[in-house]
Amino acid sequence: MAGVTDTVFRRFIRNLGGCGLIMTEFTSADGVLRAKDKKAKRYLHFYEDEHPISAQLFGSDPKVMAEAARIVEDLGFDLVDLNLGCPAKKVVKCNGGSGLLRDLPAISEIFKAVRAAVTIPFTVKFRAGWNDENIICVELAKMAEDCGLCAVALHARTREQGYSGQARWDWVAAVKQAVKIPVIGNGDIRTPEDACAMVAQTACDAVMIGRTAPANPWIFRQIEQYSEWIRGGSGGASDRAYEVPSEADRYEMIRTYFAMLIEEELPDAPGKMKQFASWFTHGVAGGAALRKGIYESKSASEILERVETFFEERLQLCSVGMDSRSQQML
Ligand SMILES: Cc1cc2nc3c(=O)[nH]c(=O)nc-3n(C[C@H](O)[C@H](O)[C@H](O)COP(=O)(O)O)c2cc1C
Repeated sequence: MAGVTDTVFRRFIRNLGGCGLIMTEFTSADGVLRAKDKKAKRYLHFYEDEHPISAQLFGSDPKVMAEAARIVEDLGFDLVDLNLGCPAKKVVKCNGGSGLLRDLPAISEIFKAVRAAVTIPFTVKFRAGWNDENIICVELAKMAEDCGLCAVALHARTREQGYSGQARWDWVAAVKQAVKIPVIGNGDIRTPEDACAMVAQTACDAVMIGRTAPANPWIFRQIEQYSEWIRGGSGGASDRAYEVPSEADRYEMIRTYFAMLIEEELPDAPGKMKQFASWFTHGVAGGAALRKGIYESKSASEILERVETFFEERLQLCSVGMDSRSQQML
């Protein structure tokens, strides 16, 4: 996810467990070829403990895409993925991302060029079509299979929809029925229950999580725990389907992530901290005040300080509440 899944976030998610495959932010293939393009270089920087990791590219020129894919392979990525989902005007204007959904022959050229250029698995992430009148997800998935792609991931919305409305999981089911390669379902999975419902309703082979990840980075582990729990007959030894983090866990999490951001010396650490804090503190009591404080902060260390003060006060309040409750019980 652009602006989210940098190396720090990816390692952070890896450490929490449950996530099978992680992916870079989408990266311009043109940028990858421009040796001096600092952004592309940063996007494709990863550490050994991130494996298995996929690099996501966008672009419209088959030759450029093939060359960029080769570079990605040489950098040691486990997979290369083509983005046909990004709805941003800037990207669509150059026929990148979801812009290509209007031109299946052009997509076919890119599929063939990239497939011939690399030996690592090649996958595609796409939307169902440009708009409701042009749903091409089944055709596109079949084309991907015919061109030797190893898996397809469908965000079950159209480009015109952006992020509005409901993801149409029936489109994932239709794609799954049409191809033999693995199908990854994506769109509106917010809980472990949603993830299992997506699999039950569409028979997809895996699920992909977007916006829930920064709001609840435990989602991957929770899905793993929940699936095991279901497989064990919804109960088994434990009566809890999956772990729900405590306030202390949330505190530890945000502190760890912010400390990692500072340590990595990313150019926009304060901006990233602000963005993450706004996702992560939704649903936390008093979170609005913390978000305001964070937005007013001028540096990464000031943000960290505000987070520490906020959670320490909250945790103290919690323990006072518990003490008085236990005294009442006595
Ligand atoms: C801020 C933001 C950045 C995103 N960046 C990417 C990206 O770089 N590549 C991609 O394939 N999808 C990207 N997406 C789309 C998500 O991967 C996902 O397909 C979409 O949000 C629907 O899934 P969800 O309901 O789990 O969020 C982005 C979404 C958001 C909100």
